[in-house]
Amino acid sequence: MIERISDSMVDEAGTNGANGGGASRVAESPAKAKQASPVSPQAIESEDSELENSLRPKDFSNYIGQERLKRNLGLAIDAARKRSEPLDHVLLYGPPGLGKTTMANVIANEMGAQIRITSGPAIERAGDLASMLTNLGEGDVLFIDEIHRLNRSVEEVLYSAMEDFKLDIILGKGPSARSLRLDVPKFTLIGATTRTGALAAPLRDRFGIIHRLEFYTHDEIRQIIERAADILGASIQPQAALTLAERSRLTPRIANRLLKRVRDYADVNGDGIIDTVISSKALELLEVDAIGLDPADRMILEAIIESYNGGPVGIETIAALTAEERSTIEDFIEPYLMQMGLIERTPRGRKVTRKAYAHLGKAEPVLH
Ligand SMILES: Nc1ncnc2c1ncn2[C@@H]1O[C@H](COP(=O)(O)OP(=O)(O)O)[C@@H](O)[C@H]1O
Ligand SMILES: [Mg+2]
Repeated sequence: MIERISDSMVDEAGTNGANGGGASRVAESPAKAKQASPVSPQAIESEDSELENSLRPKDFSNYIGQERLKRNLGLAIDAARKRSEPLDHVLLYGPPGLGKTTMANVIANEMGAQIRITSGPAIERAGDLASMLTNLGEGDVLFIDEIHRLNRSVEEVLYSAMEDFKLDIILGKGPSARSLRLDVPKFTLIGATTRTGALAAPLRDRFGIIHRLEFYTHDEIRQIIERAADILGASIQPQAALTLAERSRLTPRIANRLLKRVRDYADVNGDGIIDTVISSKALELLEVDAIGLDPADRMILEAIIESYNGGPVGIETIAALTAEERSTIEDFIEPYLMQMGLIERTPRGRKVTRKAYAHLGKAEPVLH
């Protein structure tokens, strides 16, 4: 039998467009082939938004994993509710696809609050922020995704809003300019960023709760896959769920995406039931290897091994060697490679580990 990829797989692979985020692999990477990688951790707008909305857990009980985060936030939420006050401002950071946007929605839901969603690059002028803030209701949540990309003048207006729930607005220009102080409703700001390093210290300091989202365990990802399969009405065998989990880069977004691709494959090439044979074949077609690496990841490891004898080598050099943006490597590719112990950071740059040699089936260099 000739196997073929389902139409939707071909479509998605061929047509996913820029996703608006300037820092994303999709928008920036010059290497076109990587655009469609199903294990790229940032959202691919054309295929993810609907899927993600349908699969997004709405409350703590359905939000799998991140136990420490849930415990801390749960306490803070209970306390705030008891005092009938809004929750402290929350900053969530960590690699894309781990559940920051989802958690922002869960928090609003658990607080019984309305959520207003925007992103750093979308707020162009201080006036945009001012109108957003003055339109909030008491206790509402304002979620700013990619908060490290706010521009300076907007950020400064945000400071007093976060601190005293006041807006300082300057009307007019030159000698006739007047400044005006406006009250804004007591709100909770939730910021999300892939990197806290890029956040100005005065902004960072104004968050009462700062939390890093961790990679999930294989078992948690398996539960996420089984929950998603349930919602999508897909039938997946337990062993296949585990195989998928091992290849999902410990990241829920990728787990959901792979599930969807594998389900398409099972519908076209099988009887719709996802077993280990079907899932292995589909994943092979998608060029996702046994630990979830895609060709871009392997290319980076190979470049360090072949051109730099395993490293250490600076991040700029790796970027130049592989034609990946530095930010793409730092935000999306490297965190997983480090989590899996394939790459190490040293003061002199990145080094591949013995595990990386073993994974790629390459001999380690002999030391003299
Ligand atoms: N803890 C979780 N439990 C179940 N599903 C999750 C969890 N975290 C994330 N997801 C799923 O992964 C997708 C991506 O999560 P998202 O919150 O958009 O990530 P981020 O904002 O960190 O990039 C969501 O649509 C959701 O379906
Ligand atoms: Mg998000």
